[in-house]
Amino acid sequence: MLNQLPAQSPDALLALIKMYASDPRTDKIDLGVGVYRTDDGATPVFAAIKAAEARLVAEQDSKSYLGPEGDLGFVNALMPYIFGPGNLEDGGAYHGRIEGMQTPGGTGAVRLAVAVAKKAGVTKIHMGTPSWPNHAQILSDVALDAALFEHSSADGAVDVDAVLAIIRGASAGEAVLLHGCCHNPTGIDYSTDQWDAIAAAFADSAALPILDLAYQGLGSGMDDDAYGVRAVLSAVPEALVAYSCDKNFGMYRDRVGALYVLADKHEQLSAIMSNLNALARSSWSMPPDHGAAAVRIILNDPALTKLWLDELTTMRSRIGDVRAQMAAAGQIGPLNLTALARQNGLFSMLALSKDQIVTLREDHGVYMAGSGRINVAGLHSGNIANFVSALKTLVG
Ligand code: LMR
Repeated sequence: MLNQLPAQSPDALLALIKMYASDPRTDKIDLGVGVYRTDDGATPVFAAIKAAEARLVAEQDSKSYLGPEGDLGFVNALMPYIFGPGNLEDGGAYHGRIEGMQTPGGTGAVRLAVAVAKKAGVTKIHMGTPSWPNHAQILSDVALDAALFEHSSADGAVDVDAVLAIIRGASAGEAVLLHGCCHNPTGIDYSTDQWDAIAAAFADSAALPILDLAYQGLGSGMDDDAYGVRAVLSAVPEALVAYSCDKNFGMYRDRVGALYVLADKHEQLSAIMSNLNALARSSWSMPPDHGAAAVRIILNDPALTKLWLDELTTMRSRIGDVRAQMAAAGQIGPLNLTALARQNGLFSMLALSKDQIVTLREDHGVYMAGSGRINVAGLHSGNIANFVSALKTLVG
């Protein structure tokens, strides 16, 4: 039976990691998978994580099972950062209406969100295109229809009218999946006014919002990057929020994420969470403990929290510097690099053809996704001039 399985091509983004590693050129440039890099091109473990891990190793007295919900200390400690402390308190917009559980990374959270939406009767999920390629793969795997709409307009600005029309036109049994901040792959985010309009549209719509917040803190700051999530959740009875700590705590391979549910009424939460627990149990039983435990230790210690937030600020400002340097290169042939300064987070798209992307890789050692997405954080003082000159050779 197994020998009848047709071969699948490897995930294109993950395949780039191996392709880059096996390239012997010393001046190669990795703009592929979304990991933060320092100006030396390294992806070090956060100092706050190192300190938390040392404490974890010294103090952890058991590795016995926790349960499908994972480390609830971690899940709850993150909540004020995501949802805003005021909203969670007595009298706040969603006091007593949010609960969460730990998931294996943001992917696990999206997967669980989609699976529970399906179980609750959702048959179609609207999502902007382009999007993180794994969104479509997850929908297809869970056997839910993906209805695509254009996220950005031709001039590289966000097309907010498109998303508003989708939300207003959606009926019960439909969900709309949006990126919370630092849109992957375009870097083009909604403004606060646009988020307010999106929230108002959700308030008048039967559609279930599913928000994927995978880059909080890498755009404008922890609070600013959560504006959209908080605006939408303040306006709707129900929503799902998938969260990743892979980038903002640098926990990539440790797979640290969470899924949060906003329920219409507090009393409904326990039934909803019981469904999530059952889905998690049959998928991965329970999430890996280590990374989430380290994040919990940080968030429960003011000095480590400050250290982490300072490290995050350093990351964010370096990404901003790289974006400004790229924007200073201006127009290269048809490529308008000034747009990079208006975009957020790790990613931006360059309007290059498939052939041009292959030429960049083969002739210049530049590795980027086949969609034209670059990981801006892969650029640094040692390679940015080479990258710009490769673009000039190619399209200038
Ligand atoms: C990316 O888009 O590069 C990251 O989110 C990593 C991944 O899992 O695809």
